[in-house]
Amino acid sequence: MPTLTSSLYRLFFSTRLRATVTILFLLAALTGFCFVSYAYFIESRTLQTVEYTVVSPDLPSEFDGTVIVLITDTHQGRWGTFDLRNKVVELTKKEKPDLILFGGDYADKKYYKVEALAESMNALSAPLGKFGVPGNHDYVHLDMEKVMGILQEKGGIVNLTDKGVWLEKNGQRIRLFGTDYVWNRRFPLQFPYYEMNDRTEDEFVVLLTHSPDLFDRFDPEHQRRIDLVLAGHSHGGQVTFFGLYAPISMLRNRAYTSGRIDVEHFPYNKTSTIITSNGVGTTGVPLRFFSPPQIVKVTLKKQ
Ligand SMILES: [Fe+2]
Repeated sequence: MPTLTSSLYRLFFSTRLRATVTILFLLAALTGFCFVSYAYFIESRTLQTVEYTVVSPDLPSEFDGTVIVLITDTHQGRWGTFDLRNKVVELTKKEKPDLILFGGDYADKKYYKVEALAESMNALSAPLGKFGVPGNHDYVHLDMEKVMGILQEKGGIVNLTDKGVWLEKNGQRIRLFGTDYVWNRRFPLQFPYYEMNDRTEDEFVVLLTHSPDLFDRFDPEHQRRIDLVLAGHSHGGQVTFFGLYAPISMLRNRAYTSGRIDVEHFPYNKTSTIITSNGVGTTGVPLRFFSPPQIVKVTLKKQ
């Protein structure tokens, strides 16, 4: 027979345990609510411009001060993704870019969303042009050639898939390459390696590609010929642990998840700079946490 004292003792502790569990549950629910509210209503809509300066002895003097803007991973029309087209146009115009590059993952599932994006981007112009390459989402539910065709026709964005062009200013030039999405079904990689041979070691080369992982696919001799890689795909991890760690990086090489990596090529005194943008839109869940949407501005400087 339990004594009156022991019954009261048990009642006291079971009540206290229930209260503790209830409080912990409410705290977890409140934390979750705050997290989702911030990630959905605030951070995923706070588009910003991130700036980098790339200094190189290979840059022709006419290109000193050239401004490149990279717009990538817009994911137009993706479920829950906030429409940032107008903000993209506004921020890009503000930078007065000489060259505008688009890194793929334009829209999801519907061609009219690609058209809407292209029509918005048609408001942008740059003296050296507008160029784009496809991302993986431009293959998943859509025909990549058709997507790139719409962007070219309605947005004035030149399809740079597996192509190289010379960009010229007053008799001097730099090389711009674009690649197909590296892990897509069109293996082997169709990058025009041969085109790398029509330049000398000291010409300035920009590579536009959806995934920065592509850089690792080049042999060292080709790597050191590339001065600047501009890419997206990672979304900067999209939902990160306070910017310190991204549980889902979407890349094989996590070093490229977000921001800038300078790869030195010893003993050649050459550097390749790889810049990965967080991109504009979202994929999977329409949330961002410590990985805000961005456009990238790169200023080229002659050393
Ligand atoms: Fe993407």
